[in-house]
Amino acid sequence: MGIGAFSESVEAAAYVRGRTKLRPRVAVVLGSGLGGFGYALDELKHLRFSEVPHFPVSTVYGHGGQLAIGRVNGTPVAVMQGRVHAYEGFKAAQVVFPLRMLRQLGVEKVILTNAAGGIREGLQQGDFVLIRDHINMTGMNPLVGQNDERFGPRFIDMSEAYSPRLRALAQEVAKSQGFAMKEGIYMSVLGPSFETPAEIRAFRMLGADLVGMSTVMETIAARHIGMEVLGISCVTNLAAGLQAEPLSHEEVLETGARVEERLQGLLKALVPRVAEGCSE
Ligand code: HPA
Repeated sequence: MGIGAFSESVEAAAYVRGRTKLRPRVAVVLGSGLGGFGYALDELKHLRFSEVPHFPVSTVYGHGGQLAIGRVNGTPVAVMQGRVHAYEGFKAAQVVFPLRMLRQLGVEKVILTNAAGGIREGLQQGDFVLIRDHINMTGMNPLVGQNDERFGPRFIDMSEAYSPRLRALAQEVAKSQGFAMKEGIYMSVLGPSFETPAEIRAFRMLGADLVGMSTVMETIAARHIGMEVLGISCVTNLAAGLQAEPLSHEEVLETGARVEERLQGLLKALVPRVAEGCSE
């Protein structure tokens, strides 16, 4: 990975193109416990991550590990059911490889979803929160190393990493479905241990509303390759020290399962709207 990543992403995209006639311009990445949307498509084709050349394969329970391509209300969409995380031992470039492959496939806009711990007062288990901005606390960045100009420039602006336009669109769609989404700042940590209560107090002082172990590297890589990004967190638990019970992956999955139908409903209406204005 690294220097060869561009040609690898071209090769992976060529493989996917050979498996489906659909040419999605929008992709969705589904977080822990949120994989259902990937089964709710028409003309659905599933590709295991392991069959796509160079694709990283997740080891975490709760991450489906497949790429679903199909249509939602007629609009082609690529759905990552699962993702890999840096805490599994993957390099940053491997974590973002699927995004780079999707760009080669023709994807222009991506909706990144994740499970997160709620830090800000007032956030509740099961809330969906639009990511307005992030704080990268992982100590990693997928753009470290020699820059490949075919992906994008050496230095990229991150001042509107999460598209205000797509956020407004998501709010509009949520409202039409009878709910409002909060907005917040997502802090990404490396994991895999959950945070300590002292860390959460510190993160809150730094301005974080949510904490999780994904998304940020994908956003950075997506901006590098010129994709527009929408980020949606599902508050699966209150962050460490803010709830009575200890944190667990089971709780994350349980909450995800409980609210994921609402996410599916949102995505079904949102994806066709996000696709408006993309290339033919
Ligand atoms: N911390 C980090 N990652 C998470 C959490 C959390 O509390 N919940 C879901 N993913």
